[in-house]
Amino acid sequence: HGELLGVVALDGPSGTGKSTVARRLAGSLGAAYLDTGAMYRAATLAVLRAQVDPTDAAAVTEVVQRARIGLSTDPGAQATTVDGADVSAEIRGQEVTTAVSPVSAVPQVRAQLVAEQRRIITEALDTVGGIVVEGRDIGTTVAPDAALKVYLTASAEARAQRRSRQDSTDLSATLASVQRRDAYDSSRATSPLRPAEDAVELDTTELDLAGVQAELLAMVSERDMLK
Ligand code: DC
Repeated sequence: HGELLGVVALDGPSGTGKSTVARRLAGSLGAAYLDTGAMYRAATLAVLRAQVDPTDAAAVTEVVQRARIGLSTDPGAQATTVDGADVSAEIRGQEVTTAVSPVSAVPQVRAQLVAEQRRIITEALDTVGGIVVEGRDIGTTVAPDAALKVYLTASAEARAQRRSRQDSTDLSATLASVQRRDAYDSSRATSPLRPAEDAVELDTTELDLAGVQAELLAMVSERDMLK
């Protein structure tokens, strides 16, 4: 395919296949990969470990400021650490998933993590030349100058189905939890989940991973982002 130059911003709610396609796209184009959701999850784990109430914004801010969150940008070897310990599995657990929305709604937490995300992006552009960044506010806030912004969507039913298959959970409970998290993430005051004005919207309800991947590769090459 060639190698990616510049930033691809990939946003959207959970269950759209975003993480898998972002990682694969980065891997196939020799680019770095940044999973910003993993950073909010790691911050949330630090809050839970400190036994702080996730809805207490001041206490949450203090814990997250002290936590050392580490993240690999190699699409082939994803690892997340908190204070030096590998937490890659733990941040995917139910406890973190439940508490991550209030933690990621705290403005000071977002300011801290966005600054760190911008630092990681600059470093990747200086070293490998290209990066695929995945999250909720990449096109709107973290990297508003990204050469390509894609907003992935899928019906709530399709997203719940993918999630319950992945985690072997009950479909109706998963649908309710997906809809609750969407509502929360879309209505928070700081950087709510919404497409950037110049984002391309891609509905993945009827597409498999290979189909989404093909669409993204076509967009990258149309924009002359390959060397
Ligand atoms: O993509 P994910 O499910 O791992 O993200 C976990 C949570 O983090 C999600 O509920 C919203 C939040 N998040 C965010 O607020 N901003 C981002 N850029 C990425 C994730």
